[in-house]
Amino acid sequence: MCGIVGAVAERNVVQILLEGLRRLEYRGYDSAGVALIHNGQLNTVKRTGKVQSLSDAINSENGLGATGIAHTRWATHGSVTETNAHPHVSTERFAVVHNGIIENHKVLREALISQGYTFNSDTDTETIAHSIAEQMKITGDLLQSVLNAVKTFHGAYGTVVVDKEDPNTMVVARSGSPLVIGLGFGENFIASDQMALLPVTRRFIFLEEGDVAEITRTTVKIIDTDGNEVERDIIESLVEHDAGDKAGYRHYMLKEIYEQPSVIRNTLKDRVSADGLADNIFGRDSESIFAKTEYVKIIACGTSYHAGVTAKYWLEQYAGVSCDVEIASEFRYRKSVVPANSLLVTISQSGETADTLAALKLAKEIGYTSSLAICNVDGSSLVRESALSFMTRAGTEIGVASTKAFTTQLACLLMLTIAIGKHKNMPKEVQQNVLEALLTLPTKLEETLQLASEVEDLAEEFSDKYHSLFLGRGDQYPIAMEGALKLKEISYIHAEAYASGELKHGPLALIDAEMPVIVVAPNNELLEKLHSNVEEVRARGGIMYVFADKEAQFESDETMRVVNVPHCMESIAPIVYTIPLQLLSYYVALIKGTDVDQPRNLAKSVTVE
Ligand code: G6P
Repeated sequence: MCGIVGAVAERNVVQILLEGLRRLEYRGYDSAGVALIHNGQLNTVKRTGKVQSLSDAINSENGLGATGIAHTRWATHGSVTETNAHPHVSTERFAVVHNGIIENHKVLREALISQGYTFNSDTDTETIAHSIAEQMKITGDLLQSVLNAVKTFHGAYGTVVVDKEDPNTMVVARSGSPLVIGLGFGENFIASDQMALLPVTRRFIFLEEGDVAEITRTTVKIIDTDGNEVERDIIESLVEHDAGDKAGYRHYMLKEIYEQPSVIRNTLKDRVSADGLADNIFGRDSESIFAKTEYVKIIACGTSYHAGVTAKYWLEQYAGVSCDVEIASEFRYRKSVVPANSLLVTISQSGETADTLAALKLAKEIGYTSSLAICNVDGSSLVRESALSFMTRAGTEIGVASTKAFTTQLACLLMLTIAIGKHKNMPKEVQQNVLEALLTLPTKLEETLQLASEVEDLAEEFSDKYHSLFLGRGDQYPIAMEGALKLKEISYIHAEAYASGELKHGPLALIDAEMPVIVVAPNNELLEKLHSNVEEVRARGGIMYVFADKEAQFESDETMRVVNVPHCMESIAPIVYTIPLQLLSYYVALIKGTDVDQPRNLAKSVTVE
């Protein structure tokens, strides 16, 4: 979603800002802009489309500025136009960039218009710029003006303001949308994601909810939500600097698909061995929390939700603990009951998804006492706000369609199953079996990736299709859901997933030769049932693509193409069968010529509702 980069320095910061925006492109956006202060002038350049167009425009006019703010916009209020792109300017003096939504923007707009301000855009953000200009008339101090102005905002914001009359200062405010200060030597930076600043610094201060900060070249002053000046920890980032490199792959998504064996090795490292799980890997208090846990509530969005649904099968089947999974945006707006001795588990690649964060906040308010975040970004809001956290260690994921984050989440959730199960009479041999399965996982994924060219061939048959159906049973049902999500996200083919047993309760009506049916069929106890479902499709003239274990006895014929997936232990099958479905969506998207890494209308990190 929207991205922010800002800098106060002595040198020209234009290329730093543009590189920062490029590094945020993966989050999804539709327009971009920069405001630069140079020789007492405020110069704003904006373009719709890619950061490259903005860069061309700035470079053609030799843009200069030692202080500047920049933004990639993902439209919420107002269509995709240059006028609506950020930064927004008030009184030709203040420039503002903003991530999030000011929910009371209509009321603010009316009040500001009556105070004589003219609005040039349809955005909610412009109210921030004018509100600060109005406060400046009263206080004459930018920090105080922002502190006063934010009190009038309802909603979510990560915002940065500069004043051309005070070119050495940026004032920033965080509420609901993350901001991180990057510390340089004689220069300082701000961004919505540390990735944007890795070329210039590795020392970061993550602002907390409600913080407002004044940043100059040499100082950082942070005021917390109670109005007190506070110190925040300086964190040395361990994030890979070059995650932005495609390493020779055509797309980040393909690179990330192929990274899965190695990142899963990393996820398991020092945590799992043939002797068992290492102690306290979920945190110092985790053992006592898990011993008391009688019910697990999992909350997440998108792909992370599918990881949660898979874990429900595992937690109930292997660990014998009751579990429910819910989409964060549903949970946060309904009344729910908190069962006794519950553990709340949130799952998120980014740790900044607005709905998941709001759901966690609500869960704590209504009485969940223990919370665990399974997350890929250390220091993210979700991690900081949860009692326990467990890092997926997938490395930075750039492709909007999540791949390695999902499979590492699943590996973590299998570890969680054992960690809780050992307190819940999970038989020793079942624990041992799941451990062994996990240890074989990286090699199994390497073997499975060798199906790529076979899957690429099969993808040809999808290029003229508009709809598709994914079927799975048991713990493969969420994998079918994830397969369908991947296909629709990047190839724009309508894809729906069904638990195979539901076929006759509706979707059978849709079956014909134009509706490919994709089936995930490992060799488990539900195989016979799945065979019957396949026959139901065949009898209605459907064309099937079956990903099956060799021993599952599916044979290719004129109505069915079978891809044999390497045999694996049952508990890891959902992770192994994810791979061919990721490859299928990738190759179909390639044939359709879509923007694989930045599919239309989607964002990597959804920091607004
Ligand atoms: C967006 C992304 C998805 C992701 C979902 C949840 O929709 O495009 O890939 O699964 O958000 O994000 P999270 O960071 O919470 O896992």
